[in-house]
Amino acid sequence: MKILHVVGARPNFMKVAPVHRALSHRSNVNQIVVHTGQHYDFNMSDVFFQQLGLQPPDINLHAGTGSHAQQTGEIMINLEPLVIQEKPDWVLVYGDVNSTVAAALVCSKLNTPIGHIEAGLRSFDRSMPEEVNRVVTDRLADLLFTPSEDGDRNLINEGVSPAKIHLVGNVMIDTLVRMLPVADDHVITDLPSRFVLVTLHRPSNVDDPVWLQELLTSLRTVGEEVPVIFSVHPRTRKQIDKLGDGHAARGLTLLDPLPYLSFLVLQRRATAIITDSGGIQEEATYLGTPCLTVRENTERPVTTEIGTNVLVGRNSSRLLEELTSILQGRFRRHSIPPLWDGRAAERIADILAGSRQENEADLAHAQLLR
Ligand code: UD1
Repeated sequence: MKILHVVGARPNFMKVAPVHRALSHRSNVNQIVVHTGQHYDFNMSDVFFQQLGLQPPDINLHAGTGSHAQQTGEIMINLEPLVIQEKPDWVLVYGDVNSTVAAALVCSKLNTPIGHIEAGLRSFDRSMPEEVNRVVTDRLADLLFTPSEDGDRNLINEGVSPAKIHLVGNVMIDTLVRMLPVADDHVITDLPSRFVLVTLHRPSNVDDPVWLQELLTSLRTVGEEVPVIFSVHPRTRKQIDKLGDGHAARGLTLLDPLPYLSFLVLQRRATAIITDSGGIQEEATYLGTPCLTVRENTERPVTTEIGTNVLVGRNSSRLLEELTSILQGRFRRHSIPPLWDGRAAERIADILAGSRQENEADLAHAQLLR
């Protein structure tokens, strides 16, 4: 069985690693990892391959950055001949980034079966580019691997055949579970005993200069009480640079994007996390670290229902109020969602292997009838 994985942006790399590993332990599975080139800086891409023990990608499409149409189109144009040449049995796509939807569009037109890992999540907010990517990818996929029951419900409500949907758990948490013991040996010196960890990169937060300025002012206010460590995404860095207001302040440290292990150590040790990332809502839930999400909605409701996540919306007073409660030791108890146990990728590998047996059985049956 030939499997072609398509990845391109930072959160994809934590998701492909366990699936690739699980499939590499199966017999007769040939794997090709294609990097679209959506993310290209060393600390947004290569360092994750290194730290997660993934071989460098077999092929890089070097699509790079651009408008949504440019980026998606470039990935499609570069990927199509490869899929035609390689004729994979399955193409696996991950999450909700432009690389995901681009690959799904290419493969569906070539009648190449698509497996979507992290299917079914919905924010019900079509102003988010990721929501459009999720809806389209799920519509086109042949196998939909969901991380939580809400994913199954959303897909059923959209009329997806239940036979295609498999609740497998969370592959990003597979990576977290595997890397936690490694993180134990990863020492970061001079880390304060209490600190707030921040990541913000959604266009809705960082592309609006007035709101970004308000957020930075809030972070400076927090920094007067407890140190704030802000890992700054390249998109955010560009926008902060445009504000040009000498953003650094006592108590507020701005860092370049951090490698996986350092960020894991920080998430684990943080007193609180402020974010707008999807994956960090999940990782904070698993680690039990209180998390405040600067968004009006989440496609990961399980993190707010039973996890540590609280949506504070686009409201800096609410952000500061919630943070004050956490710093005073008042936050909710949490539990880990079902099947977030480090074995999601094994379940995916079982299902893909089963699909091969079904295909082989179909072929044998067809030959008998001939
Ligand atoms: C993308 C995903 C988003 C995901 C995020 C994780 C889409 C629509 N968005 O957003 O869902 O949460 O990745 O990081 O797919 N840049 C660099 N170096 C890099 C990568 C990007 O400097 O290695 C800069 C580019 O100049 C670009 C900007 O960051 O203009 C944004 O990159 P892009 O891939 O378009 O979107 P993200 O904001 O990273």
